[in-house]
Amino acid sequence: MPTPRRHLCFLRALVGLRSTGAAGFSSAPTRGCPLHAALARRGAPAAAALALFSSIRAATLPTPYTFSLLLASLAASSSRSRTPSAAVCDRLAAAGLAHGQALKHGALAHPVVTNCLLKLYCALGMLSDARRVFDTSGATSLDAFSWNTMVSGYGKCGDLEAAREVFVRMPERGLVSWSAMIDACIRAGEFSEALRMFDQMMGNGFRPDAVVLSSVLKACAHLGALERGRWVHRFLKAEGLGRSPDNVMLETALVDMYCKCGCMDEAWWVFDGVQSQDVVLWNAMIGGLAMNGHGKRALELFRRMLDMGFVPNESTFVVVLCACTHTGRVDEGKEIFRSMCDHGIEPRREHYGCLADLLGRAGLLEEAEAVLLDMPMEPHASQWGALMSSCLMHNNVGVGERVGKKLIELEPDDGGRYVVLFNLYAVNGLWEDAKALRKMMEERGAKKETGLSFIEWNGLVHEFRSGDTRHPQTRQIYALLEDMEQRLQLIGYVKDTSQVLMDMDDEEDKGNTLSYHSERLALAFGILNTPRHMPIRIVKNLRVCRDCHVYAKLVSKLYQREIIMRDRHRFHLFRGGVCSCNDFW
Ligand SMILES: *[C@@H]1O[C@H](CO)[C@@H](O)[C@H](O)[C@H]1NC(C)=O
Ligand SMILES: [Zn+2]
Ligand SMILES: [Zn+2]
Repeated sequence: MPTPRRHLCFLRALVGLRSTGAAGFSSAPTRGCPLHAALARRGAPAAAALALFSSIRAATLPTPYTFSLLLASLAASSSRSRTPSAAVCDRLAAAGLAHGQALKHGALAHPVVTNCLLKLYCALGMLSDARRVFDTSGATSLDAFSWNTMVSGYGKCGDLEAAREVFVRMPERGLVSWSAMIDACIRAGEFSEALRMFDQMMGNGFRPDAVVLSSVLKACAHLGALERGRWVHRFLKAEGLGRSPDNVMLETALVDMYCKCGCMDEAWWVFDGVQSQDVVLWNAMIGGLAMNGHGKRALELFRRMLDMGFVPNESTFVVVLCACTHTGRVDEGKEIFRSMCDHGIEPRREHYGCLADLLGRAGLLEEAEAVLLDMPMEPHASQWGALMSSCLMHNNVGVGERVGKKLIELEPDDGGRYVVLFNLYAVNGLWEDAKALRKMMEERGAKKETGLSFIEWNGLVHEFRSGDTRHPQTRQIYALLEDMEQRLQLIGYVKDTSQVLMDMDDEEDKGNTLSYHSERLALAFGILNTPRHMPIRIVKNLRVCRDCHVYAKLVSKLYQREIIMRDRHRFHLFRGGVCSCNDFW
């Protein structure tokens, strides 16, 4: 609960607002009506709280209905505005105040009021307060809505375990409950789990709505689960769901899903058919083109967007700068970066990061470093990480060593940060430095993130990690890999171990770890199981290593298969021995 002093400030703030924000409340309301009407209009939180206070001071007893409106009004305004600082304090204070008053007037005996309070606390991210209300409310003042609110509240703040814990205890689960749970999985990055939940939901006889389906599309996009995504598309068409007001949201999710699965024709087809386009849709399409290596077309589409009078937002510039990066257009990228303020958008951290990446990949490493050092906010580790990859790509020890050390300083527990600098030293024969670094890594017990690759087949997403032996087809997969390697060596494949000098997290020797990288296991699985005419689609959580990239190119030629691989950064379409990224990733 807020302190009395806080209340005082808060009240003062409210009174200050009286003349401007709280229109219609200049006179104290007598009977409930004008007060309720004003609350129902969902004004600013301060205005709403002021109304309550006027009413209390005017000695008219607030009813439970008053509280439900007050709480809903506060919740609506807190989920709408994202402004930090003073406004947040006001909202937290207002929530505590309203809670206290509701308690005092016995309004919390009503499920509607309790639910509004739960929703308010969840909207403010005060999950422990919500939980206290939830746990201390008698069963009679909770209903399905209360349970759903808790599940979605935990989901929205990324606490999947807590969401699941509430979900399994629910007396009954409706579509909204499943939907909240699927959303919770997605926010926690558990995409396969989201699809499993969706299957369970369908198994329980629920008919999915637009909200659930756009979540499912998001999961498909992340996993590269194209077949499932296409199923959703067909379902939408068959059910006529595409014609609901959620139209653009679903169509955008479809465009995004097709782009992330590398199906540009289908993405275009959906994009062109959208009736009322908005900036989010344009961003999805431009970003999709950029990611798939069609930087030029992405930039053309951006120009078309401007010509048609759409106003770009901050995300537009992220994807457009990304398009410049992938096509190596340094001057155009700089120009676009400069043009941001013409559109009234102040460059944020990610824009500076994109600019630095653009410069770094083009080999302008000092200039890129200067952008990160001079930008008005602290760069993220991932932005230094992108520059580090460029240093490795251009083999620049000068900048690379500075950036590499900075990364280790920022993330001392992430083994991957040591590995890149180690490799840079090793490639340049700086063995003493390399050895010292390796020792430091061991002493600190830093671990590398495990590489994971996914491939969808027969309605299931198969997951592989490096050296994995959990899959039922393990024996066939390894036999095929051995056979493949021999055949590839005949056409000139030589293992490039330079990138994996420090790749292993166990005792295996260099050569072996490399042969069993997760993407190779997935690739072998694809060759074993999928029909020849179908492309093999693999999604990987990390960057594809240089050796696996060479390997995939040769496999595409030798086995005459199209291989589509999406890694953390971009798309690779391997066909006839070459890759769509032109070895630039
Ligand atoms: C800009 O577009 C992105 C999606 O591309 C969206 O998530 C974001 O909310 C938009 N920002 C604004 C201020 O509308
Ligand atoms: Zn690899
Ligand atoms: Zn490639």
